[in-house]
Amino acid sequence: MTKRVALVTGGNGGIGSAICKELANQGHTVVAGYFPPEKESAEAWQKDMHEQGCAIGLAPLDVSSFSDCERAVSEIAEEFGSVDILVNCAGITRDGTLKKMPEENWKAVISTNLDSAFNVTRHVINGMLDKGWGRIVNIASVNGQRGQFGQANYSAAKAGMHGFTMAVALETAAKGITVNTVSPGYISTPMTEAMPENVLESIVNSVPMRRMGKPEEIADAVAWLASEGNSYTTGANIPVNGGLFTSH
Ligand code: CAA
Repeated sequence: MTKRVALVTGGNGGIGSAICKELANQGHTVVAGYFPPEKESAEAWQKDMHEQGCAIGLAPLDVSSFSDCERAVSEIAEEFGSVDILVNCAGITRDGTLKKMPEENWKAVISTNLDSAFNVTRHVINGMLDKGWGRIVNIASVNGQRGQFGQANYSAAKAGMHGFTMAVALETAAKGITVNTVSPGYISTPMTEAMPENVLESIVNSVPMRRMGKPEEIADAVAWLASEGNSYTTGANIPVNGGLFTSH
């Protein structure tokens, strides 16, 4: 297996951690991008990963800032090599019904969850094109596919993310690069733990598999999309949601 350099944004988060671990276990050089104000907790996370046998690099990376992404991607290239595998995983929620949603909650979610895909990918795409090889996996959500009460901002951003996937997949298909989306359902992470318990319970009861997903179940799908083995799937949106939403 060829050893690659992988950047996972939001790598120290619930789903990001499982993705970092899986890619590191496969022998890749993995760098976790973290939100710069979270330096202390990111370093503690890195130590914990190390104790679990996973050596993972850390990079401060504010995905909502185009210029910070430019700085971070160039520092990562110097320290670890240019990025071959990019997983756009950083994301936040600011749930609330539209009638009460403050502009700042719309803007925060759109810039962290959607602008981020452009901000980071724009700085790695030319390196992948030069090499003639690249894997990009965008982590969206079932709620970008079907909409979710209380998530006009999040659903819009995640739906937009897959539009980005489809367009960039077309632009890079003939250049050895695949670009795909993974749309998780409700996964056990701090993000879903923050939901009101009764709301979460009623959603989980509506999942055909009658349980929440595990971060490792997302990581498995990402690892395949990021592998050499995935040489002919591009522009796809892979649902990993326990049957919560099905489509053609
Ligand atoms: N469908 C229809 N009506 C609903 C509803 C639903 N799912 N949920 C609430 N309502 C109704 C209530 O019954 C109530 O009705 P009345 O006004 O007639 O009494 C009304 O909507 C409440 O509206 P409010 O604007 O007052 O809402 P609220 O302040 O009580 O809270 C909320 C709304 C914050 C959005 C809350 O429902 C919530 O947190 N929902 C969860 C949203 C969610 O799924 N988030 C996912 C987070 S995890 C994630 O995002 C990861 C991922 O990718 C899956």
